[in-house]
Amino acid sequence: MGRVDDKVALITGGARGLGEATGRLMAREGATVVLTDILDDDGKALAESIQSEGGMAEYIRQDVTDEDQWDELISDITSRHGRIDVVVNNAGVVHDATVEDTTLEAWRHVNAVNSEAVFLGTRAAIKAMKDQDPQGGSIVNISSVAGLVGIDNLAAYNASKGAVRLFSKSAALHVAQSGYNIRVNSVHPSYTWTPMVQHLGDNTGDRDAFFDALGEAHPLGRPGVPMDIAYGVIYLASDESTWVTGSELVIDGGLTAR
Ligand SMILES: NC(=O)c1ccc[n+]([C@@H]2O[C@H](COP(=O)([O-])OP(=O)(O)OC[C@H]3O[C@@H](n4cnc5c(N)ncnc54)[C@H](O)[C@@H]3O)[C@@H](O)[C@H]2O)c1
Repeated sequence: MGRVDDKVALITGGARGLGEATGRLMAREGATVVLTDILDDDGKALAESIQSEGGMAEYIRQDVTDEDQWDELISDITSRHGRIDVVVNNAGVVHDATVEDTTLEAWRHVNAVNSEAVFLGTRAAIKAMKDQDPQGGSIVNISSVAGLVGIDNLAAYNASKGAVRLFSKSAALHVAQSGYNIRVNSVHPSYTWTPMVQHLGDNTGDRDAFFDALGEAHPLGRPGVPMDIAYGVIYLASDESTWVTGSELVIDGGLTAR
């Protein structure tokens, strides 16, 4: 028996990185996985790869910042698959700049993708989950350790991820008090070796040295790998966590314990 058997799960930013690992794991554990992204080639190839391993997956193009696309996407999923049980608001972008070096344009873009779109996705998910039979679902919003502690060169990213943390608690309280049987939680990974973090490494001029420095920065001696985070997400998505809502799952190799 799989941990998310028969569940229909949407994963945004699902073409690569943490979204890819989460999609692969959820499909392996019995979910029908809908991956969305703006990287169509990667997304299609991943869905085909999951299918070739016997999993149920499909790719749909979605820009998470587009409000209208959210309603279309969720009604497409519910009409074809009957329901939606899990929404992982995972799509994100990083901008490595201090407050002094951040343009208003960059600030708005980072906050549109990382924060505003999490609001759009959570709201759209609630609308569908509260009206289906049986009612309910799990919404997992990917924040970051940058939603917990300050990082000098991630000004806009810090703001966007901090917003996800408290917004998720607000939504969790609302849906609990409304009796919708919906849970909302946030996940807070530290530096995990994905294309996003590799890009940060490239910006330092020495990706390998950056990798080594990340190892030294974490008490457990290494940066994360995508499956470290996917295992946390699937716990929150599954019925193993039916009494968990409004919580923040920190997966950080001990970084914020100091
Ligand atoms: N990798 C880490 O160390 C780390 C740590 C903490 C939090 N996170 C968060 O985890 C999530 C996944 O990050 P990742 O490391 O896998 O990054 P990634 O860059 O490898 O993947 C992010 C995905 O989001 C997609 N995306 C970006 N803008 C989009 C948009 N407007 N609409 C739809 N999709 C869009 C990208 O195309 C990409 O496929 C992000 O929210 C990120 O902030 C990552």
